[in-house]
Amino acid sequence: MPTVYLNGQFLPLEEARVPVLDRGFIFGDGVYEVIPVYSRRPFRLHEHLARLQHSLDAVRLANPHGEAEWTALIERIVAAAEWPDQGVYLQVTRGPAPRDHAFPKVAQATVFVMPMELTAPPEAAVDEGVAAITAADNRWLRCDIKAVSLLANVLLRQLSVDAGCAETLLLRDGFLTEGSASNVFIVRAGTLLAPPKSHLMLPGITYDVVLELAARLGLPCQVRPVTEAELRAADEVWLTSSTKEVLAVTRLDDRPVGDGRPGPRFRRMHAAYQEYKRTVMRGG
Ligand code: PDD
Repeated sequence: MPTVYLNGQFLPLEEARVPVLDRGFIFGDGVYEVIPVYSRRPFRLHEHLARLQHSLDAVRLANPHGEAEWTALIERIVAAAEWPDQGVYLQVTRGPAPRDHAFPKVAQATVFVMPMELTAPPEAAVDEGVAAITAADNRWLRCDIKAVSLLANVLLRQLSVDAGCAETLLLRDGFLTEGSASNVFIVRAGTLLAPPKSHLMLPGITYDVVLELAARLGLPCQVRPVTEAELRAADEVWLTSSTKEVLAVTRLDDRPVGDGRPGPRFRRMHAAYQEYKRTVMRGG
């Protein structure tokens, strides 16, 4: 049973309890992060904490900790867990209060940090690619906030589970936004295309890494809106997230993407990503 952090205490997961009136439970009134950790070294921690600050500001919650405090807390959780590779889940809610939509006058935020085992995507998913479906993006208009109220994402993800697929790619007003729990890139005529950050998608930390690596690899790249037609005609489609890293989508809505195999740019990007991870693990 892993050790977790809850409101100032380190304790076994099974002993961690939150009051039922917590606004995270009642309203989904809270924000979260998932931080990958490789060989016990947090990956892009500063960037994850900066995105947490953005989410907290957006929902008008004060940050309960400064960056140094968060870092110390996360390091302690990571050190206590049994796995070298982890996904550290971190959640801040507006805390317990009598049920009322309006913010409570006095509220004590609930802070929870939990380690989870992180396993790299299976070799078959990397070598063969994965299948995905598309669906209308029916989420709210603040998808840039990493909010714990994930009902729309949960329902959209389940559509792909029901179809035996790895992800649901979301389309809004004829444009690609992202996946139910990942960002999406396409390759078209040798150019990597990435939907621009906006209120319509989560600004992925892996998304930023992939754009940086694309520049290093000299891969032509454009950050601009991607149409549904471009998605459907793409030579390559990629998913990125902290847990999926970079994966190729080789079937979309039951049709092959490109020649139905992970493309050459995906292979270069995947290799570059693995190399970059190794640098981080060595402390670079
Ligand atoms: N989700 N878009 C959505 C809607 C996401 O939920 C995620 C990640 C991403 C990718 O962001 P990043 O590269 O920073 O992981 C994009 C996490 C992993 C989750 O909810 O478990």
